[in-house]
Amino acid sequence: MASMYSEKVMDHFAHPRNVGELPDANGVGEVGNPKCGDIMRMYLKIENGIIKDVKFLTFGCGAAIATSSMATELIKGKSIEEALKLTNKAVVEALDGLPPIKVHCSVLAEQAVKAALSDYYRRQGIDPEPIVGKLEEDCHDCNGACGI
Ligand code: FES
Repeated sequence: MASMYSEKVMDHFAHPRNVGELPDANGVGEVGNPKCGDIMRMYLKIENGIIKDVKFLTFGCGAAIATSSMATELIKGKSIEEALKLTNKAVVEALDGLPPIKVHCSVLAEQAVKAALSDYYRRQGIDPEPIVGKLEEDCHDCNGACGI
């Protein structure tokens, strides 16, 4: 039976890249989708404007895992400017597509990267909003009450 998922999605779901935590991360972002309950946490280690290392933890569906895995691959070794330009569309394209009902999972991946970059700026006393923009899929429902 043909899968509704591309081979690349299946590969990144079965063998996600860059899974884990980064103890020396200087940008950590977490986003959640209140509708499906999925949570994604992104760790960035940024040095001289370059994303030296990136790891993620995702508590969510297969597409959420595959998109966060692909997102980390797309920004690793890149500049902050390039990472800021990462769109969920680019993640979907790099995975050779996603079924329409799963596209929102890729939005979570884009937002997780942006949340981590926002945290990076905040730690330096810089207001991230003019640079990173507003996060759409923030975990507004729990308002941090989940304590993660
Ligand atoms: Fe929620 Fe995939 S179903 S991120």
